[in-house]
Amino acid sequence: MGKIKKIGVLTSGGDAPGMNAAIRAVTRTAIYNGLEVIGIRHGYVGMINANFKPLFSHNVSDTIQRGGTFLKTARCPEFRTPEGRQVAYENLRAAGIDGVVVIGGDGSFKGANIFNEEYSIPFVGVPGTIDNDIFGTDYTIGYDTALNTVVEAVDKIRDTASAMNRMFFVEVMGAEAGHIALYSGIASGAEAILMPEIKGEARDIVKIIESGNTRKKSSNIIIVAEGDEEGGAMAIAEKYKPQLEGYDVRVVILGHLQRGGSPSALDRVNASRLGNAAVEALLDGQQSVMVGLLNNEIVLVPFRKAVKQHKGLNQHIVDIVDILNV
Ligand code: F6P
Repeated sequence: MGKIKKIGVLTSGGDAPGMNAAIRAVTRTAIYNGLEVIGIRHGYVGMINANFKPLFSHNVSDTIQRGGTFLKTARCPEFRTPEGRQVAYENLRAAGIDGVVVIGGDGSFKGANIFNEEYSIPFVGVPGTIDNDIFGTDYTIGYDTALNTVVEAVDKIRDTASAMNRMFFVEVMGAEAGHIALYSGIASGAEAILMPEIKGEARDIVKIIESGNTRKKSSNIIIVAEGDEEGGAMAIAEKYKPQLEGYDVRVVILGHLQRGGSPSALDRVNASRLGNAAVEALLDGQQSVMVGLLNNEIVLVPFRKAVKQHKGLNQHIVDIVDILNV
């Protein structure tokens, strides 16, 4: 593999606050090392359509504090096909791009991993998703901001719930993972947290609520991860209503507001570190790896490991949910 001279950078999959900070770090680290930078717009779709735009230092000025991604993002079924990846490869070659940083989640890394098995242009990944479900890294870009957004919203819901003695089922994002639900539930003092990873006895909502009732609780908040096995908040509220007679039950689905907003300081710092490390990794001859943060240190995790399984929940935090509700 020759020396890298020009890199591409893209954001892929669901957007996450802090993606702009990561693009900025990639761009500036590359320029610092004498590389040219090409922004690939709309994720892998832009790779297939050759939607490329040179990036200079000034293009990433005034972006670190902005939510969303100025390169745009997309989910791209075509990149899952050999034909789609071949067109992408030809476009990268024609543009002289000899290394790529992909900022996204596990779906984006699956595509990158297959591409690197087929073609010689190295890809390095930066974990960017509000779900924080990627194996091999403690944090994904966007998670901290999303958590703070959820907690701010739930605090407000708590005010009205307490004022009117109501019970709220609040649905948060996480189609396959309960990290947002668990952390936001702890941080907002939720009475119960329903997550796809936790099943059975520990989820006995009626028992939990009734025990709170004996302690004269004036409100109840149940956080539900959207991918819970019993369904979303709406379905769960309907299911439990007959057993919760006497409670005034409401449902709030927080939805995509969790993906927006100015990134938190932590997300900006993590995005800056990870974006920098991704370019360093390419310069070191790495490929098919994700840069992650474990115990606050940068680590390299092969894509094949990062995509094999979702990161599990922190058991200590799961264990204290009920204790903190006694
Ligand atoms: O992966 C991030 C995420 O926000 C998930 O939590 C959620 O299930 C999904 O994206 C929603 O995707 P879309 O915006 O495509 O509906």
